[in-house]
Amino acid sequence: MNDIRTETSPHAIPPTILVIVGITGDLSKRKLLPAIEKLVAAGAAPDKLKIVGITRRDVSAKQVLQALPDELPHGFLTQNMSMFQMDLSVSADYKKLDAYLHELEIGLGEGVQRLFYLSVPPQISQPIVKLLGKNGFADKPGTKLLLEKPFGTDLETARELIEQTKQHFAEEQVYRIDHYLAKDMAQNMIVFREGNALLAHTWNNEFIERIDIVASEKIGIEGRAAFYEQTGALRDLVQSHLLQLAALTLMHPSVTRNLRNICQCRIDALRQLHIDESVPFTRAQYSSYADEVKNPGSLTETFADITLKSTDPAWQGVPIRIVTGKALDKKATEIKITYKKINEYESNELLIRFQPNEGIELRLWTKVPGYEWKVENHSLELDFQETFNTSTEAYEQVLLDALKSDQSLFTTSEEVIESWRILAPVQHAWSMSPTISTYKPGSNYDHIAG
Ligand code: BG6
Repeated sequence: MNDIRTETSPHAIPPTILVIVGITGDLSKRKLLPAIEKLVAAGAAPDKLKIVGITRRDVSAKQVLQALPDELPHGFLTQNMSMFQMDLSVSADYKKLDAYLHELEIGLGEGVQRLFYLSVPPQISQPIVKLLGKNGFADKPGTKLLLEKPFGTDLETARELIEQTKQHFAEEQVYRIDHYLAKDMAQNMIVFREGNALLAHTWNNEFIERIDIVASEKIGIEGRAAFYEQTGALRDLVQSHLLQLAALTLMHPSVTRNLRNICQCRIDALRQLHIDESVPFTRAQYSSYADEVKNPGSLTETFADITLKSTDPAWQGVPIRIVTGKALDKKATEIKITYKKINEYESNELLIRFQPNEGIELRLWTKVPGYEWKVENHSLELDFQETFNTSTEAYEQVLLDALKSDQSLFTTSEEVIESWRILAPVQHAWSMSPTISTYKPGSNYDHIAG
């Protein structure tokens, strides 16, 4: 299965200018800048790479780097990052930015690619996309746009956003980030399912009873009140990350054996997914949330529990439950596959753990050694950290793939549309309901009622 992903040597990546909008934000500090240093240290970054941070205020590169956690190295960034001060709502400033980038390019040689990473909310990023387009940035060969979720708030707004972006940038230039797709375990779903005959042959409704996709978080909203009030659990995690995990579980990758076609496999899986309206869908809010966001009447859900069904003949009749919540009893992101019982024996469970303790666990029934006939359930485990002693941060993969023009681990506009289409009945039902139930912080996701 080594043929599945095309490899590009760092020397083959064109000289690059990575422009980060939102350089002083949390994502940039916690993920992007450290990921750049890691790529450089691993020898995976292009030979010629410059970073440009866009700021409205007069902030120096040194100040940005000083805000990084102490343990993070920033030797490369100290040498290769500069700041450009501009007002992103002023068209004339884009001309000045273009001139600045052009100057930098002269020092980098031929065929420089420009990556614009918009690490800002959509209401801010959309006008920037428009102004980049109007000022001719999209027409320059090698220009790419990296966008962060959420991509719209429902089916209609997502369509509008995609249309607006299309007016300026071609789909091949747009990289919609879903960092879950870039997680090692998400990529491993293909190898794991297709490289193991045992699983490949039983990966369907003949053998599988149900699928549970869980993202339980211990953290609350961590000060992101304004963002979360507009977003909620369904938009924040279900529409993006968790539906992508559902697609990776249900898709048929063997048809292609080529990771470049993986987007199409995911789209095909999503197209056949629907809300199972015969199973109640639940939303709830942790009890201190309304105070935290200073909105006593808030109806924003911090917990969502929905069940899907697929019309794919391989999956008909298999409930696919998606459940996520903040301020729960534990951090656990996992896919649980429950196999059907045979005869009087119990079923088996296969646990695909994304975090913590990334790994795979197969729960088997076994006779306990001894004179008695005693049967117990025990796990066969593959713990990635223990086995490989290394891991890659999803944002390293995101940046590297964008540098290499590999879009297979990014979300296409069709996937965005399909995921909002799937969730429309839930959004509609919740928009009609004037109340929301609450749960105690520290609850378990199986004990929360709507
Ligand atoms: C982000 C959400 O996309 O994913 C956060 O906005 C969430 O609310 C985070 O906490 C979870 O990511 P991870 O990689 O920690 O599971």
